[in-house]
Formats: sequence, structure tokens, C-alpha cells
Amino acid sequence: MCGIFGYIGSQNPVKMALQGIKRLEYRGYDSAGIAGVDAGKLRFCKEAGKVAMLEQEVEKAHMHLEVSIAHTRWATNGAPTKENAHPHLDSAESVAVVHNGIIENYPELRETLIKQGVTFVSETDTEIVPHLIASLYQGDFLEAVRKAVSMLHGAYALAIIHRDHPDCIIAVAHESPLAVGIGSNEAFISSDSQAFANYTRDVLFLSNGEIAVVKRGHYEVFDVSNQQITRDLQRIESKPQVSLKGEYEHYTLKEIHEQPTVLQNAFAGRLREEYGTVQFEELKFDVNDLLSIERILILGCGTSWHAGYLAAYMIEDIARIPVQVEISSEFRYKNPIVPHGTFVIAISQSGETADTLAATRELQAKGAKVLTLCNVHGSTMDRESDACVYLRAGPEVGVCSTKAFTNQIVILFLFTVMLARMRHLNRQEGQAFLQAVKALPQQVQAVLDMEKHIADIAKRYAHHDNFFFLGRRYMYPASLEGALKLKEISYINANGYPAGEMKHGPIALINENCPTVALCANKQTFGKLLNNLMEVKARNGKVIAIAPEGTEGLSDIADEVIWVPETIDELASVPTSVAAQLFAYYVALERGAEIDQPRNLAKSVTVE
Ligand code: AGP
Repeated sequence: MCGIFGYIGSQNPVKMALQGIKRLEYRGYDSAGIAGVDAGKLRFCKEAGKVAMLEQEVEKAHMHLEVSIAHTRWATNGAPTKENAHPHLDSAESVAVVHNGIIENYPELRETLIKQGVTFVSETDTEIVPHLIASLYQGDFLEAVRKAVSMLHGAYALAIIHRDHPDCIIAVAHESPLAVGIGSNEAFISSDSQAFANYTRDVLFLSNGEIAVVKRGHYEVFDVSNQQITRDLQRIESKPQVSLKGEYEHYTLKEIHEQPTVLQNAFAGRLREEYGTVQFEELKFDVNDLLSIERILILGCGTSWHAGYLAAYMIEDIARIPVQVEISSEFRYKNPIVPHGTFVIAISQSGETADTLAATRELQAKGAKVLTLCNVHGSTMDRESDACVYLRAGPEVGVCSTKAFTNQIVILFLFTVMLARMRHLNRQEGQAFLQAVKALPQQVQAVLDMEKHIADIAKRYAHHDNFFFLGRRYMYPASLEGALKLKEISYINANGYPAGEMKHGPIALINENCPTVALCANKQTFGKLLNNLMEVKARNGKVIAIAPEGTEGLSDIADEVIWVPETIDELASVPTSVAAQLFAYYVALERGAEIDQPRNLAKSVTVE
């Protein structure tokens, strides 16, 4: 995680760097810092907390810089304090470094440097880098960086400056994304090219330990074996999309409310209604690639994994293709068996999640084709996968994923219908599925129209510290997602569970202080779920049901009911999840939690 930014050029380097890290704050926001060269000296300023806090300090310090690097942090090694904030410097304040990633062999390197007399002032792994470079420096900045980097193990993107070389920034990237933007008489370094895309769209993406010497309007790149290599600039097409909160108190609430519109975007222009099928213009595979799929492997983390879990049910039910769905961080350390005919779907809102990226790279190395579902054009997964279908959810600013999730479900459903139509599904069946998709925006609007009712229930239950979310079949992944929303933004302990598993242990936790949110929209298993809810009721557990309009049998069991429009089982997680999102939002609001940027989290998880 962490966002790094660097600027050299004729605009104000302080202003540009602060603006840059503000755009990168989605990658972490526990502390921030800036450094640069001013008349042969390194100057720096750091602060615990968000970039806005740093801005105030920088203003007081009247900073003027010729070149700048800056950082917004998500703590890995060391607490989120001012001392641990980047940039880190060597003892003589000659070198300053900002870093994203983890240097795995830092304990040994730190030990060696301490023996050489170096005093460390932070608990971070990063601080070894400026000390190493300073100890190796004999007038050649690039040479010192090369030697230092050759000693590092792990994942790192680094931007480095030296007080004797105010005409350049050295950028290094190994298994952590780093983009270099070249403008006319200026240059940028950033963890995300969107952070400078308003100024230049000519970009170079560094990887595999490459080192770039970046000057005003100019760059040179060296590979791991120190050979200078030719790397052409790529032109990124998309302009940064700006999202404003408008009338809403939080981005999260705004994004929940955007769902009717963005769901429409998810299917706009992709339905071939006459033939009851779907076409994705980004899907570059030919028909034979898709017809020869014998098995699908889905990868994702967090909310994206939940969407993948839902897709596994859909694809097996409708397209009759066996599916394995895996959490990327677990999968990447398996020795995966990838039989011939395996097709991989990687799901990631950001397209930058380190675990999903590593897992897909391993699968590509084994010869599998990878389709990515992502929301961010030009992200690493968009660039590296064999094809990428865009979520079209628009920028999601709230750390808690809402609209990206429901768009993931719809796109996975459309993909399922397409695969099924290529196999056994007839045109009428395909058309019926497309009709169900087209009804979703209106159905979600109907859930949003019940906001006040949901908010009232949320307020009444917000004092509880433990919740269960129960469901069966499609409602089981939806219950995992509902519980994750509550955990993330309200800091309440919430467990998503398959309702039938409760009697195998977790029911021991049920009492009058542990309410259950029951997701009732899977018709096929509703009778079974009712039995499970009776077991909860018999133990004095309160039940808040989210159920399709007209569902019978809840009156004696549910203490509260949130009615949602009825749809097919395969899509019922969409209206149900929107109700669960609103519930989590209003519980968090009642508890006074920080909703858009919850503690300890970041929007893009670029470390393991
Ligand atoms: C969702 O609310 C979370 N913030 C988180 O679980 C997220 O879905 C996960 O980190 C995966 O991110 P990605 O979709 O960008 O890969």
C-alpha cells in the first residue's frame, strides 16, 4: 500500500507533491511526509495523520524545494507515528527515500548498519535504504542506488533524492507498481499514473527491479544487470475521473446511492437481447477459447472474493462448468494444479491488489489465460491480464466497496449467461435472464427508497457489539459481504455464516445481545433457513430479516423485516446487499465511526 509521488520541473514541487499524495491517499492515510532539495540541503516535513495535517505543517514551515518526493503511508513495519512517516533520511541528511512495499531482509541489513555505527530513528524497514545508499555513495548517485538495491529482498517501489543531485529523482520498482510520467520540461513519479494524468499521459511503468533516472522531461532506464535499456513511453488513454461528495455526508453513502445508475452502466451496450446473450467488446478471446473452457478458477480478496463466490454458484448452476473460487492470498502459496482447459477470472476493483496480482502472474506462467474484472483503466491487472472487462462503476472513493460489488455481480452474471448460451441455454432462457438484469436498477432504487426505515432499525441495534449474518446458497456469500461491511465501517464484530452450519458450533454465541441479520432471498433454501432462524429465536437471538416482498413465514420469527423487491435467486444478492450496505452505514453513523476512511484500512492493498 502507501502512495509515493515525486516531481521535478518548472511548477512548484511542494504544491505538486502535496496534490499528488492527496490523490494517492486511497492507498493509506495514517501519516504523510514530503522532502526535497533546497540550495544544496535536504528539507523535509512529516506528520502523523492525513495529508491535510501535513499540508498545515508545510505551510507553517514555508517550504521551498527544487525537486520533491512525498508519501502517504499505510503502516506495515512500525506504528503510524511521525518518526515512522516517510521520507526517511540517512544520518547526514544527504539522501531521502519514500517507499511502498516491504523489504524482507531488513533485520539483517539493519544489524550490519548498526555495527557500522549507524543510528536508526524509526522502526521501519525503509530506513535502511537511505543509510545503505549513503554508506555506498562516492560521488555517483546512480551507482550507490544500484549497489544498495542489489542487497534488498522483497517488494519495493522507491523514489530517492540526493542533496548533491537536485536535477534528478531515482525511481526503482520491484514487484510494486511505479509509474514515471514525462511531460515537457517536467517529470513525475507515482504509485498510480492517475495521480499525474492531468499533467501528462506519457507514461513508463517500471517493473522487475528496473531503475530509472528521472530528470525534467527526460529519463534513462537500467535493468537489474545494470544495462541501460530502451523503454518507450506508453500513452494512457483515460483521464482521471473526479468524484465529489455533493449533497452526501460521505462518499460511501453517495456510492450506495449511485447503484441504480452504475448498474445500468454495467450492462449498457452489452446485452444482445434478440439472441438472449451478452457481448463484451473488451473480451479479446475468440469463440474457441471460450468454448474450450472446461473449468474456471476465480481469484479475489475481500469483497471481490465474495463476488467470485457468488459467481461460482451462478456459473455451476447456469453454465454447468465446474468452478473453484479461491482467496488470492491463500492460493498464491499453493502449488496450483492447472489442468488443460482452465480459465482464470481475477476480480479486483482496484486492479492493484498484490495477492491477486501475484496469483494471476503464477497462473499466466503456467500457461492459463486470465480475464480480469476491474474498475480502474490502466491498472496493473488491466495491463497484465489477457483481457479485462471493466466494471464501469465510476470512481469508488469510500474504502468500503459498495457499487463495485454489485457491478461485479452483474458482470459475472452476464458472463455466465454468455457462456451458457454458447453451450446449452436456449434463446428464451437467455432472454429471461437478461430481463431480470434489466429490472435491477429499479429494484435497487426501491431499496434505496426505504432508507429511512433501514436507518431506524440500524439506530435501534447499533449498540450491539456482535452480529451474525446468515444465509444459504447465494445468500451465504451475500452474508459474508454484509458482515464485512459492518466490520469495516462500524468496527463491530460480525460473522457471515452459512445458516446450516450454526448448529455445528457458532450457535453457542447466540443470545439476546447478539442479533442475526437473516438474508432470506434464496427461494430454493428458504424453508431450511426458516428452521435455522427458529433455532436462533429459541435462544433469545433477535432477528433482522432482509427478505423479498411477499415472503411468508417470517412474522413469528423476525423482530424486524426489511422488504426488498423479488428477483431470481442468482441476482437476489444485489438488492439484498444494498439493504445490508445501508444498514452498515447507519450503524456506523450512529456509532460515530469514520466511514469513508476506516481505521487501519486502505482502498488499494498493494502489500501481501
Ligand atoms: C471491501 O469493502 C474492502 N475494502 C476490501 O475487502 C477489498 O474488496 C479488497 O481489499 C480487494 O480489493 P480489490 O477489489 O481492489 O482487489
